[in-house]
Amino acid sequence: MTVANTRGAPGKRREKTYKFPSSAVEAADRRNELCPEVEPATRGPEPSPPSRVALPATKVRYVVAMGQITSEQFVENLNEDLRLEFQSIVQYVQHVAVITGPEYTSTVDELKVHLTEELAHASVLAEQVAFLGGSPATTVPEVAAVADSGAALQADLRLETEQLERYRCRVAEATDLGLPDVAEALRPLLTETQEHVRDLQSALGQ
Ligand SMILES: [Fe+2]
Ligand SMILES: [Fe+2]
Repeated sequence: MTVANTRGAPGKRREKTYKFPSSAVEAADRRNELCPEVEPATRGPEPSPPSRVALPATKVRYVVAMGQITSEQFVENLNEDLRLEFQSIVQYVQHVAVITGPEYTSTVDELKVHLTEELAHASVLAEQVAFLGGSPATTVPEVAAVADSGAALQADLRLETEQLERYRCRVAEATDLGLPDVAEALRPLLTETQEHVRDLQSALGQ
């Protein structure tokens, strides 16, 4: 199955014909190059039928491992990534304002850098959703109140860790679907999210 991409990923204008993997095994091989923690397609129980609703990260990995992800699921996964970036933006705006104490001065400066990068991540995701024919999400998940500075940083670390896992799989999914330009656009998000995780772990003394 091929899909003619006559528009190219945002920022790139070129003609290209994408080739979808011919089998679940081929798809899994492509994915394993980028998402090695996922079990090979030949292992594990039978998969559940694909769903068009947002899936938990573990479920997403499982569906991809079986080479069964659809373009509709991929777009919805990108939209859920976008919602989580909106959550990051709201969360960091609040935490930058409420985290206090001289021991957190450099940490707050770091969070301000994260904040600007989250906005860029959201823009990239929205562009990819639109490029693939979807409508970029506009809803923001609820942001829980935090009791103190430590709890705020722990909440930020949990969210960044979830995003990191999601981006690893999203890059793999894009590759599985024969969308190298999309995978390329998503890789900086993965790299910067890794840095955010490390920054927060360091701030928390982990
Ligand atoms: Fe982000
Ligand atoms: Fe981040």
